[in-house]
Parts: sequence; structure tokens; C-alpha cells
Amino acid sequence: MEDERVLIVACFLSLFLLVLGQDDIRQPPRISKPATPRQEFFLPNNANNDIFLNCSATGRPLPSYDWYYNAMPIQPQLGDITVDHTTGALTIRKPTTAIQGYFSCRARTTFPNGVSALSISHSVEVRAARLDNWQNKEPGEQIAAKEGEYVSIRCDDNRPQSIGPSLFKWFKNVDVEFQEVLDDERIFIDNTGTLHFTYAQTHDTQPGYACAVTNVLVGNIQTGRRHQLTVSAVSSVPEARPILQFSTETNGQAALTFKANDRGRLECVFSGYVNVPGDETPSVAWFDNANNPIVSGRGRYTIENSGRVLLIDSLREADDKLYTCQGSNTLGSTRATMQLNVTAAPIWVEPLQSTTVPQGQDAVFHCQARSAVGEVPPDPPRWRRNGISMNSGYDPNKYEFSEGRRVLTVKATRKNADIACFQCYVGNSVGDSYGEGCLNVILPIQIITRPAAKQSIDKKGDIVDLTVVATSDNLYPLAYTWYFNNVTYDSLHAPPHVIYDVNTNLAYINTSDLTDQQMRDIRGVYRRQVYHEFETVFVDMEVDLLDDPLVVAASAGTFDFWIVGLVLGLLLLLLVLLIVLFIVVRRKRQEGHYPVDKNETKAGLDPKTEMENSGFDALTRAPYDYPENSRSRTALDIDDLPREMEGDNESFGSSEYGDEASAFNEDGSFIGVYSSPERKPPVENNVHPTGESVV
Ligand SMILES: *[C@@H]1O[C@H](CO)[C@@H](O)[C@H](O)[C@H]1NC(C)=O
Ligand SMILES: *[C@@H]1O[C@H](CO)[C@@H](O)[C@H](O)[C@H]1NC(C)=O
Ligand SMILES: *[C@@H]1O[C@H](CO)[C@@H](O)[C@H](O)[C@H]1NC(C)=O
Ligand SMILES: *[C@@H]1O[C@H](CO)[C@@H](O)[C@H](O)[C@H]1NC(C)=O
Repeated sequence: MEDERVLIVACFLSLFLLVLGQDDIRQPPRISKPATPRQEFFLPNNANNDIFLNCSATGRPLPSYDWYYNAMPIQPQLGDITVDHTTGALTIRKPTTAIQGYFSCRARTTFPNGVSALSISHSVEVRAARLDNWQNKEPGEQIAAKEGEYVSIRCDDNRPQSIGPSLFKWFKNVDVEFQEVLDDERIFIDNTGTLHFTYAQTHDTQPGYACAVTNVLVGNIQTGRRHQLTVSAVSSVPEARPILQFSTETNGQAALTFKANDRGRLECVFSGYVNVPGDETPSVAWFDNANNPIVSGRGRYTIENSGRVLLIDSLREADDKLYTCQGSNTLGSTRATMQLNVTAAPIWVEPLQSTTVPQGQDAVFHCQARSAVGEVPPDPPRWRRNGISMNSGYDPNKYEFSEGRRVLTVKATRKNADIACFQCYVGNSVGDSYGEGCLNVILPIQIITRPAAKQSIDKKGDIVDLTVVATSDNLYPLAYTWYFNNVTYDSLHAPPHVIYDVNTNLAYINTSDLTDQQMRDIRGVYRRQVYHEFETVFVDMEVDLLDDPLVVAASAGTFDFWIVGLVLGLLLLLLVLLIVLFIVVRRKRQEGHYPVDKNETKAGLDPKTEMENSGFDALTRAPYDYPENSRSRTALDIDDLPREMEGDNESFGSSEYGDEASAFNEDGSFIGVYSSPERKPPVENNVHPTGESVV
């Protein structure tokens, strides 16, 4: 019978789950590309320089894509621009300077009920690469130096503007033979374009030194004025100790300021000369603020150009410290220190993050940013929901801002209405930081099959039902775990004696074949944990045995039949006693208090003196304590009796029982029935049932 019931339940559950399986799965869009703001350069009016921008996002149902230009829909007159709304690809054919600006991708997921969620990417800045002409070239300078001296030639101030990746270069003999001046141990071009000679040599004498600006993308070079350098020979080149001639520090504060995540560049140029072949120029070493040597290639550090350049990758605020360069040769060494300054658009303290909540719960979004140390704090965050400003016109009961608009709480979320993406912009003097977090609302975990919280077994063959079945949003499959008496079982295993099907979650204990010990072992609290990443539900089921009658029944089989008879007899006796007790208790309930004294006093008698006279005080007053206790005793009796029988059934003679039964009081109450045979009725030894002597 029970088999069938369980099976029917299982079938019903499977069917139910199948139906639920068709419930729609919703997931807001999430753009994975472009993942960071970036710049893209193009050559305008160049047939081979079309711009391709990709966008990809996840989401269920699959999102559709669009691209915006400077935060507005793209207008047809902007240029030959196509957007593939399915793949997210943006193509700009033959781009002109008109399309320069910020492009951002938008991925929209539309749910079956028509509600949609919109994710907005970081923007891609599109710029036309360009190198202007070098205007009004006046005659260059005449520079004279002696052999062994430090010489530098500055790049002209009116250098042309270059947009896109650019470099300074130097050329000599420009009119005769186009020859590049290359960096080496002795020669260096710094970040401002100045050409340095650590020590001059006579062959440096040239009529046409020209600074050049090159644009890698444009593939063009613009050269400046021609400078004349004349190096005169000396009879003996004097040796010189290192002297700092240029550093990022001497070049001014601005040269030391970098944006976070950019590559920091610090430079030091020392003059100096010693007449040691191969070691003429000073060596350069770098140290951090703790005076530890900086090793090229270790951490984010790279040292280049014969030690003159220290590069620090992806700068952070912690890099905002003192750096020291040291130029050394055999004559001595010189140090220069500089303080790197890392500035940043607002730095996330708690960036906006996507969150998933079970329906009905609140969702909290944080958009907390700060400025770099020592800089002006950022403005309050500006929020958008699905790209629409939340400055006004939103429901304040639904969307609650706190902590200076740095925290947004979406109240009592609903799957049908609240799946959305929130955009947050925080700006300071350096720039804007943009973050996005999407809210997904899922159906909560619901327990659809829950057995009785408390199950008592009264006979072998009983089935303990432990089947717990739950449903939740199909986006997150449920996992189940068993706990029993503080032991955790992994997802595939169940506590002892539990018949468990991991696929249907059907779980029960068939007590038919359990031994007595096993019957006792299955008592306890079975806890089912039903959970996924975002929610956990516990179901507790307590199993106990109804007073161990099973144990009695079980042991009966091993005893002779007379014991069965005895047990039955005793049970019968117990029943009689219970009935008697019941009557007594009932009577007392009706009368309110122990009746003897009251009734007799009412009748004009003094029970105490009467007792004294008859010498029966010890006996009759003794039971005074019993009526109060008797009710609780009756409750315990059922437990007490079989236990006594179990261990003591031989000596528990019916004749003794008869004797005991004779100890009824005049009012029908009884004493000593359950006391051990050793304890004699108080009437014989004048001992109060508590053990105290009354006489
Ligand atoms: C319980 O076990 C007994 C004996 O093995 C078997 O006859 C009975 O069908 C089982 N009941 C269930 C519900 O499995
Ligand atoms: C854009 O996607 C296309 C197709 O997946 C791929 O061929 C191309 O390399 C991608 N372009 C960029 C810039 O990632
Ligand atoms: C760092 O640079 C920023 C921006 O130029 C400036 O405001 C700030 O004062 C500089 N900090 C230091 C310590 O130089
Ligand atoms: C189970 O663990 C809890 C907490 O660790 C403890 O309070 C309780 O006594 C334990 N129960 C058993 C049966 O060990």
C-alpha cells in the first residue's frame, strides 16, 4: 500500500517538475567586450582603414545589440556605419574625422513579458590619427663643445601636433644623408625630445642635427630646425665624476604625474667620463623609497636605455612614492630623487556589481569611489537604470538611495518587473569612472513536498517519509544535502537506513527489516538542506519511536510464551491501574483539592485528632504528598513499567503485586505500587515515603 503511495507521489512530482521546467529563464545582459575604456585611432579617408568594433554580451534570452555615438543613437548622416544587432559588430567604412567621438555598445535582453534590461559598455574613443606639418623652420643653433664635455640639444618648442602613437627621433646630416641618431650608452633622447651626449666626441660634429616627430600610424616624419654641433678636440680628455643633467623631476611636476593604470616613466641623465674602455659612461641604478635596489624585470619594473629609464607598469596609488636614481663611475656617484604622482579618475572602493536575489528580497547596489590620496573627493554618483537617468521620475518606494547616493536599494524585487541593469558614473577632476551592475531576480526556493515535521513510529513496518522536493528558478539548479545527528552527507549519500533516490529525491526508511538497535538508531532529526548559490532552505524532520514498544515486541519473540503471557497480564494490570488512577484523578479534579481533610473538616470533624487518636497519622498523612504528584506519575508510568519488566521480570511476582495493591487509601488513592519491593509500606515502619522518619 505504502509502496504505491510513494510511487504515485514520485510520479506526480516528476510531472510537476517537468511542467515547471518550461518556466522561462531570465538573465539580464552582461557585456564582456569592450571591457575597459579604450582609444582607437584610424586614418581618415583611407579605404583600407575601416573601423571594426566588436561587442559581446551574455543574457537570456540572447540580447540584441546596438551602438551609440556620444551617448546618442547613431544618425545616418554620421557616415557609412552598420551595426549587426545580432552579433554586436559595428563597422565604420571609410571613416572621416566627423565620426571622432565616443562609441558605446548597448545590449538589450527582452523578456517574454516585454520587460527588458539594458547593459551599456565602456566607451571606445575613436580618434583620427594625424601628424601636422612642422611650420616656420628658422635657422638652428650653433652649439660648441669640447671633447669629453656633456652636450644637449633641445627639441624645438613649436613641434607639430601628433595624434596617435608618436615618437621623438633625432637625425643628423638631414640634407645630405638621412641618418638617425640612435640611443646608446653615450647618447639618449629623453621624454621631452632633448638629445643628450653624456660626453661629446669630435665625430659628433655635424652641421644638421634635427629633432623629428614621428607618428607610427600615419607613417610620416616631421623634422625641425637644423642645429650645428661642433666638438673641438682636446689633448687629453678630462675625467669627470657623474653629475645629474636631466631627470623627470627637473623637468617639472607634470612630468611626474601619471594616471592610474598607465605606464609610469622616470628618467635620469648623468654626465661623466672615465678613461676606462667600455665603461666610459656612468652606470645608472634605481632605488625605491626604502632604498632597495629596483631590478629590471622584477615586479612591474623595467629599466631601459642603459639604465636611464625606469618604467612602472599599470600604476597604482602605492607607486606614489620616492624613487632614486644613482649615477656612478670610478670617481664617485650622484643621486637624484623624485616623487611619482599617481592621479586617478575615481578609484572604486566598492564598485557596482551584479547581483541575483530571490524574488521578494531587496537588492543592494554600491557605487563607492574615492579620489587618489590628497586629491579632491569625487562628486556624488550619477545613476541610470537601463540607461535612463534616475535623477527624477523614479519610484522612491521602489528605489531607495542612501549614503549620499552611493547605495541604491531596490525594494521587494519581482522577477516580472525588476530585472534591470544599473549604471553608475562618478567623476572627479581627473575624469569619470563608470560601473555597471545588473539585477537578476529569480523565483525563490519552494518546498513542494514536505513530510510531517515530527514522525513517530509505533510498529515495525512503518515507513518514515523523508521525501523533500523543492523547486526554484531554473537558472540555478538545486542541490540537496542531508544532515542527520550532526553528520553531513554529500549530495549522493543519505543517512543510514534511508532509501534515497538522488534523481527523484524520494527518501524513506522502511522499518520492516530493521533490528531493535537499528530502530533506535534511526531516531533523531533529519535535516534537508536545499540550496543554490543565492538561497538556502532547511527542512527538519524529527523521527522518534513511540516509547520503544517495538523493543518489547521484538524481545518477546526470543522469550518463552509464558513471558508473553506475563507481559500481557502485566499490561492488563497496568490498564486496570490506569483506569483506577483515571477515576481518582477525575474525582480529585471534581473536588478540587485532596478531599479528606477538607470534607471531614466541613463535616465538623478534625481529621488530625481523629488520626492521632487512632494512631494512624503516619499512614494517612503520608499520602498527602501523592495526590499532587500522582498526575505526573501517571504520565510517566507508561515509560516506567516496561523498563522494570525488561530487567526485573522474574522477581516481579503477581502476589507481590496483590500485596501492593492492597495499600489503597481510604479515599481510593494508592501508595507504593511502583515503589521497589524493598520499600515497605509506611504503615509498618513509620517511615514517611520521602524516607524521613515521622515519629
Ligand atoms: C518494506 O520492507 C518489506 C520487507 O522487506 C517489504 O515487504 C515492503 O514492501 C517494504 N515496503 C516499502 C514501502 O518498501
Ligand atoms: C570581431 O569579431 C570578429 C568575428 O568574431 C573577429 O573576426 C574579429 O577579429 C573581431 N575583431 C576584434 C577587433 O576583436
Ligand atoms: C599630483 O597631480 C595632481 C594632478 O595634476 C595634482 O593636483 C596634485 O597636487 C599632484 N600631487 C603631488 C603630490 O604633486
Ligand atoms: C550538534 O551540533 C550542535 C552545534 O554544534 C550542538 O549544539 C549539538 O549538541 C550537537 N548535537 C549532537 C546530537 O551532537
